[in-house]
Order: sequence, then structure tokens, then C-alpha cells
Amino acid sequence: MHSHGHFIFELPTRIEFGSGSLAHLGQRVTDLGGTRVLVVTDEVLAGIGIAERVTSLLDEAKIEHVLFAEVEAEPDAAGVHRGVELLASEGCDLVVAVGGGSVLDTGKAISLVSRNPGHIRDYAGLGIPTQKGVPVIAIPTTAGTGSEATIWAVISEKTNKVKYGVGGPHMTSDLALCDPDLTVTLPPRLTAVTGLDALAHALESYVNKATQPFSEALSEKSMELVARSLRDAVWGGDTLAARSDMLLASTMAAAAFNSTRLGLAHALAMPLGAKAKIPHGDVVSILLPEVMRFNVVGNLTKFARIARIFGEPVEGLSLRDAADAGVAAVEQVVTDVAAPRRLGDYGVTVEDLPSLAEEAMKSAGNIQVNPRATNAADLVGIMTRSL
Ligand SMILES: [Fe+2]
Repeated sequence: MHSHGHFIFELPTRIEFGSGSLAHLGQRVTDLGGTRVLVVTDEVLAGIGIAERVTSLLDEAKIEHVLFAEVEAEPDAAGVHRGVELLASEGCDLVVAVGGGSVLDTGKAISLVSRNPGHIRDYAGLGIPTQKGVPVIAIPTTAGTGSEATIWAVISEKTNKVKYGVGGPHMTSDLALCDPDLTVTLPPRLTAVTGLDALAHALESYVNKATQPFSEALSEKSMELVARSLRDAVWGGDTLAARSDMLLASTMAAAAFNSTRLGLAHALAMPLGAKAKIPHGDVVSILLPEVMRFNVVGNLTKFARIARIFGEPVEGLSLRDAADAGVAAVEQVVTDVAAPRRLGDYGVTVEDLPSLAEEAMKSAGNIQVNPRATNAADLVGIMTRSL
């Protein structure tokens, strides 16, 4: 992975992007051979009519469908298996998942388990599933997780307080149908934390040891879009241009990190999500500034480039000062969008930190690629400064 100049870049998902592209749904289901669709969503999206927009498009195209609207935030393995049973008992041959990261991860996981035996946790890790599931169309309603274009689904088991990633070329959607119209009503706070999750994907991939030219190009473009439009998307409400920029940023960041993994913010997000129950976007937003401050000495050049991407005047500065300007510019965005800043607000205490750090060290893929070598004590330090 780190041998000089060698890389593999893979993007198994077709991406269709643009305002109004949801209208093509019926044709796209038919293109993928679907005749009976499991529509995966959550109660909120069912309540505000977004699920109904999807089902009425399927009705217009005379495609049969069954609704599964039970997905919870930080989705549980039990919900995935209920979806698998429904898909089987109803004889569905394609999944349409419409929602945020939890919904899209669940939709992809239902498809995967429908064609791979056993429990979803049997496939935790990278590249373990051997069979492709039924086709999946992923329709994001937030601009953040990028699940529509990633090779990952993150699944929780609330009773066991564990959270794990299931990844690989079969944990993908066949089509990411990205219509920014669906994201314009997202409230400011969710826009902020999901947008910062997208930024963290682009940034952690960009500065880490596994980054490579295709990912770097996608990360740079993604960060440019965030720099230009996250504040407008949060505070300007229904501005379609800003929403479109953020959805593009999120999908591009996902395509970047598929091939590179991420870094410490995402390693720590797993146990802080599972044990302290902090939503993914919130925990990543909180950790990102302190993770950057820890990492800056591990990749001065890249952090200096981040400063330029965020429009900081770096001419005449030393590399070290320019790199610090990159950290400050990103922290300013976190502040400007009023994202959460403190783990303590979620009930995390100093006594919790050593075991959380031990758990995060198990996220070996994200730890190994981090730009600065990291041990459990370092993670305790980052969390202490974020408390
Ligand atoms: Fe994330």
C-alpha cells in the first residue's frame, strides 16, 4: 500500500448526479433488472413525504414495491436482519435506499446479507463477503456520509455496545442517484455535522499515508466545494447551488477514501458512537480540530495545501506556519457552522477515555494510515483536549 508510486483506485458505483435526477428512478430500476423493489428508509423520511415521492415514481413506472421504513439512527444489526427477512419473504430483487447514512448503510447491508450466509457481524472488516447481493440504488438525503459511493456500511449492536464496519467491493450500491433537491430541507444543525463528516472524509484521506493521485484530486475538489459552500448550505437554507456543491463534495470525498481509509477522527468515532452513543457526524465534528492539531507535524505540506484550498493567505509564511493556517481555517469552519465542540456535552468523562482509546486502536486500518504514528495515550490526549 505504501510502496512508492504504486496504487489501486476502484470505484464500483455508477454515479448519476443533478437536480431532478430522482425522476429517472423507474428507468434505472428497470436498467438494473429490478421487478420488485424493497424501499428502505426511516420514519422521518416516510413522515415528510420523501419516501412517498420514491414510491409514487415506482408506481408511475408500474414497478412493484414493498416499504421497509424501520431504519434507526446508527443502525442496528437486528434491523438489517429484519430487512433481509422482508426482502426474502416478499421476493424483492432490488433495494432502493433513500435517506441519510444510516438508511443507505442498512440498504446495502440488507442486499449483502441476502446473498451471503450468516450474521452481518461475520463480515466485519474489509473484503470478507464473497457474493454480490441484489442490486442497490442509493439515494442520499444528506450530504455527508457518502455511503452512496463507499464500499462500507457501519453497523451497531446496541445490546453489545459495539459498532463495526463491513467493507469491500460487494458492500456498494450499483447506482448512486444524487439529487440535491432532496437535501434542501435538511435543518442547519444536521447540515453542519454531516457536511463536516464529508470534510473529514476528504481531509483524513488527503493527509494520510495511503493517499494516492486519484484520491488526492477528489479530496482537493471536495474540500474546495466545502470551503465555498458549507456555510451557505447551513445558514442559507434552501440555496440549491450550495446544497448541490455539498452533495458533490460528499460523494467525491467518499470516492476518495474508499481506496485510502481515513484517520484518527474515524477510528475514535467507532467506540464513541457505540459506547457514548454520540451520532457519527457530531463526534467527527468534535474531534476533527484536535486530530488535525495532533497530525499537523506528520504532513506539513498537505496541511499547507489545505490552507490554500480554504483561501488562507500563505505567501511568505514558513511551511510550518502555513500548515497551522490550514488547521485554523478548518477549525474556523467548524465554529462558523455552530457544530458541537465538546465530548463532555454527551456525557463522556475523563474516566471513560482509556477504554475508549483501547477500543479505537482496534480500528487498525484507520490507525495505520494516520500521518503521525499513534498510540492509545495519544488518543487519550486528543479526547482529553476535546472533552
Ligand atoms: Fe464519517
